[in-house]
Amino acid sequence: MADVVLISGSPRADSNTEFLLNVCKEELEAAELTAKILSLRGNPIQSCIACGQCAKLGKCSLQDGLNEILPDIREADGFIIGAPVYFGTARGDVMNLLQRVAMVARVNGNWLSRKVGGPVVVARRGGHSATLQEMLMMFFISDMIVPGSSYWNIAFGHAAGTVADDAEGIATMRKFAQNTAYLILQMRK
Ligand SMILES: Cc1cc2nc3c(=O)[nH]c(=O)nc-3n(C[C@H](O)[C@H](O)[C@H](O)COP(=O)(O)O)c2cc1C
Repeated sequence: MADVVLISGSPRADSNTEFLLNVCKEELEAAELTAKILSLRGNPIQSCIACGQCAKLGKCSLQDGLNEILPDIREADGFIIGAPVYFGTARGDVMNLLQRVAMVARVNGNWLSRKVGGPVVVARRGGHSATLQEMLMMFFISDMIVPGSSYWNIAFGHAAGTVADDAEGIATMRKFAQNTAYLILQMRK
């Protein structure tokens, strides 16, 4: 278990999303929090089937690996998730995960409440803002606390790893992670 769980929603190796999450992890660890990055690479996440079983089971009825990471999210004080933009929206598996985590948490005492964090987004050229807003919907309805940064949590990159060239994007992620750590530590006082 870690203080902050970070989930990469990219299917690619050495992805831009994971690069950004590593930047966040560096800042969280600099603030002496523990941080764990999980990846959806090779682990497709299905959409919610509206079976309602999560209220009885305390977890999801689907057997695709989501239940294995729910305890990590539940125990953490912070939750950050990164997505590549696909046709102007978040990659589908990312939204599948957010919707299912939110539903399981919501019908089981809303255990996402007051966790600190938010989404980060990467794309070649466009669709960042809509994607960020789409992902934020789950955070806000789940009573979570989303800190700001020096810019919105977006970065530019296309080929794997090229987001490293986006200095402003990286600085934005650093500040966001610093603020996430700051809030978590303040709330523990
Ligand atoms: C199916 C698909 C759709 C994409 N749609 C967009 C898009 O709408 N806007 C954009 O700027 N980039 C788009 N891209 C490019 C990716 O967002 C970009 O390569 C990103 O850096 C991938 O992140 P990753 O390395 O974390 O997977 C798309 C890529 C794929 C595979």
